[in-house]
Amino acid sequence: MPTKKTSAQKPVANAKLWGGRFKEELNELAFDFSKSIETDRRFYREDIAGSLAHVEMLAAERIISKSDAMKIAKALKEIQGEIERGTFPFQSGQEDIHMAIEQRLREKVGAIGGKLHTARSRNDQIALDERLYLRRAINDIIGEIKGVQTALLQKAKQHADTVMPGYTHLQRAQPVLLSHHLLAYISMFQRDVERFQDGFRRLNLSPLGAAALGGTSFPIDRERVATSLAFDGVVANSIDAVSDRDYLIEFASACAITMMHLSRLAEEMVLWSSTEFRFITIGDAFTTGSSIMPQKKNPDMAELARGKTGKVYGALMNLLTLMKGLPLAYNRDMQEDKSPMFDAADTTKACLKIFAAMLSTTEFHRDRLRETLNNDFSCATEIADYLVRKNIPFRDAHEITGKIVAFCIEKKRSLASLAMDDLQLFSSVFRSDVLECLVPEKSVALKQSKGSTSPKEVKSQIAFWEKVLRSSAQDKSMA
Ligand code: ARG
Repeated sequence: MPTKKTSAQKPVANAKLWGGRFKEELNELAFDFSKSIETDRRFYREDIAGSLAHVEMLAAERIISKSDAMKIAKALKEIQGEIERGTFPFQSGQEDIHMAIEQRLREKVGAIGGKLHTARSRNDQIALDERLYLRRAINDIIGEIKGVQTALLQKAKQHADTVMPGYTHLQRAQPVLLSHHLLAYISMFQRDVERFQDGFRRLNLSPLGAAALGGTSFPIDRERVATSLAFDGVVANSIDAVSDRDYLIEFASACAITMMHLSRLAEEMVLWSSTEFRFITIGDAFTTGSSIMPQKKNPDMAELARGKTGKVYGALMNLLTLMKGLPLAYNRDMQEDKSPMFDAADTTKACLKIFAAMLSTTEFHRDRLRETLNNDFSCATEIADYLVRKNIPFRDAHEITGKIVAFCIEKKRSLASLAMDDLQLFSSVFRSDVLECLVPEKSVALKQSKGSTSPKEVKSQIAFWEKVLRSSAQDKSMA
């Protein structure tokens, strides 16, 4: 966008749009300080869609003539074409996207262009643009989340029977199926999808017709405008319509929670690709080398996503703080909501996109995952449960098993290396069938509870998610 300022491009536009009561022109520093076009020009599509719906309604209600409305609508469509082709004359003297479009409209159709703003305020326009933009952003983000879920499901299917150590406190806890672990993320991301959908429902109301704050004396039809913009209705209170940004805060909050989930997955990918773990190898195309250490293969994409999470949390804090002290209705502070909004949306989308791609290049090492369970104590809970099945109260069973573990540690032995004689030193109820509790594959198969890591349960979860993801792929977009 050209930024060179000529005197003809100075804030003259403003003088024309709201300059009537002023004796002096806006100071140049003040103008530069307050303009927002660099950020809000991204709203051109939303702004024009809102203007088209508004002008159509003004004509239908005979507030302006049909022929004026047609001229305005035609010019607005041309303007959209100019912006999309890159021929729109963006100038440094334009304050925001609303004014830039209106100024261009008046260049094209003359004074009648000024009729478009009847019964409307920029306060209405900005609230509308944000809501329309967020509908699109939400649909895009949901699409990207599904991409990550699909990539995870793919890996879960490939590794339906692969066992690995499950952790708590990052200490080996119990054998679990890798597929079960991956499915946990699919569930988390599904709640993120629902959070976005829920926010969508709440924000999908038209604020147009607030006419700055108090409504208008013109006989406008707010419902008509809302329907033509595919809203579910209108914001009931005109002051509320232009005052609140809670829909934006909800959106940023859903982004922040999604990023928190993604960041945990990122952390695991970083850990798991380390030499210490060696659980996964991320595809070369999604890792980077070191300029000094030739052997390095770094999980930068995962690290960056983990790092960018801070930006999205920042956006949420920014918005909450921005709004907390504002009296009703519109305040110019609210102009500062755009960059956190775009930042949250863009960052979340980009991180999800890279993860879907990176995950599908990631190889999970079945043998290595299995081998880590060979000499550890992950099956200890299974021994305790075995004793419980022999009628020993769980607390005693826990104590006995703890002693067996201590014995192994002292003698530098693994659980799996214990013979019947060793075990019987701790309890006479042990029979040879206890030995199968020590096999990780058996341990997971012994699980019976719903949602557990048993192959049977996990297979039914896989089938469930396949159905959910397949049917949502067929869903029409909500906007
Ligand atoms: N650029 C403004 C914003 O983003 C648009 C609304 C301006 N309204 C006003 N009364 N100055 O919030």
